[in-house]
Amino acid sequence: MNPDSSGSGFVVVANRLPVDLERLPDGTTRWKRSPGGLVTALEPVLRNNKGAWVGWAGVPDVEIDPIVEDGLELHPVPLSSDEVADYYEGFSNATLWPLYHDVIVRPVYDRTWWQAYVQVNRRFAEHTAKVAAEGATVWVQDYQLQLVPKMLRMLRPDLTIGFFLHIPFPPVELFMQMPWRTEIVEGLLGADLIGFHLPGGAQNFLYLARRLAGQPTSRGNVGVRSKLGVVQVGFRTVRVGAFPISIASTEMDEYSRRRTVRERAAKIRAELGNPKNILLGVDRLDYTKGIDIRLAALEELLHEGRVNPEETVMVQLATPSRERVESYVQMRGDIERQVGRINGEFSRVGYPVVHYLHRPIPRDELISFFVAADVMVVTPLRDGMNLVAKEYVACQGGLNGALVLSEFTGAAAELRQSYLCNPHDLESVKEALLGALDDDRDTRRRRMRSMRRQVLTHDVDRWARAFLDALAQDRVAGSALLTD
Ligand code: ADP
Ligand code: G6P
Repeated sequence: MNPDSSGSGFVVVANRLPVDLERLPDGTTRWKRSPGGLVTALEPVLRNNKGAWVGWAGVPDVEIDPIVEDGLELHPVPLSSDEVADYYEGFSNATLWPLYHDVIVRPVYDRTWWQAYVQVNRRFAEHTAKVAAEGATVWVQDYQLQLVPKMLRMLRPDLTIGFFLHIPFPPVELFMQMPWRTEIVEGLLGADLIGFHLPGGAQNFLYLARRLAGQPTSRGNVGVRSKLGVVQVGFRTVRVGAFPISIASTEMDEYSRRRTVRERAAKIRAELGNPKNILLGVDRLDYTKGIDIRLAALEELLHEGRVNPEETVMVQLATPSRERVESYVQMRGDIERQVGRINGEFSRVGYPVVHYLHRPIPRDELISFFVAADVMVVTPLRDGMNLVAKEYVACQGGLNGALVLSEFTGAAAELRQSYLCNPHDLESVKEALLGALDDDRDTRRRRMRSMRRQVLTHDVDRWARAFLDALAQDRVAGSALLTD
């Protein structure tokens, strides 16, 4: 399949486009921002690099021509209803997602789902092969598309192919459960450069490339944005590295300082009854995020009289996610019961202790919440990075806030001055909450200042540049090999 001579020189391939097609009740449609951290991180990168984006428009059974939306060139890949059920909700989100997040819920291994995953990955590879110009750089994203690098390389050996995994890469013992483990490792090895958030993920992968794909690999430790690992696949050299993702931190910092945002933040506090402490949670409604854990910690602290319900409000903003997957349906019910129980026991009329909003919040409103919150509570059982933690820090130019952060997030490796906790240990979460609430002003300011230095100097541009520069070196090395 030959490219158009006019194809794109830089192509991002992700399961989702940065915007979802929304069908309105009157039958018309409009585009809205897609959920999740992948889109938050990649959208500014693609704008800066002027490329094309290949992905699904978020609704089944529609064929949409390529469009330019808000300056971005979008190439929709269609999925049927059955493929959404088997490839997206099934293999991606009921097999890979729980397996890669420490089997918090039990992964389902279903052969029909696997076949759909292969079929849809092939469709993404074929679409991309048509969109990419001769010699283009293609950057494939995340767990939904792990077979695309190998499939694309077979269709278009002229391309330089990068792959980045936005979620954790699991420990070897867990990955070995996967019935199609060798196919997945070989699929990824089609790339020139494979990126993970943390060195540990890269090292797990190197071990599996030796053990499952039988390829020789380097043995030394992988660094952060340095000391890349190497897998030798025949004549090709595949490199493996750790590139912790981030956010457009300067833009977020600047936005959060606007007068309109500050005023809205003050209004939010007033609307909540001017409590002494506002605790905030912001997540996709996902069982990996530990929303139940932070609620349980708050409930115990209220019972023990260590948190005063007349001074404290918790706001939990939870955007709907994967609503037809069984484990998500169950978790939603559990959290709603927990919120009801806490409010039933500790609220006064007109002053609920927990405010729970199950809907996406517009970006400017979300930033006002980040500015207003005294304590941001981020308690995932496992999270590849967690951009929400970095977003909060970027919005705390006033240095008044504190961050409670699970040790099991990628962000914990960088935000060492947060109030770290082990989400498996409720006492540890309670202690971190109390520390964040009660520490003196100077301690909190010092901790926030140090985290802000990290987030503001390590933004998403730096992430993309580190990955794409390493990928470009592969291209130089590759062409040197070809001309030798
Ligand atoms: P994940 O990618 O697993 O959803 P991240 O924390 O890395 O987790 O990224 C989530 C992104 O989605 C962030 O940019 C965050 O601001 C946004 N987000 C999360 N919850 C909401 C919400 N309730 N309303 C609007 N945006 C949200
Ligand atoms: C995480 C994943 C992304 C995914 C996002 C939203 O960030 O890493 O790949 O797009 O969650 O999930 P969804 O299933 O709605 O695309």
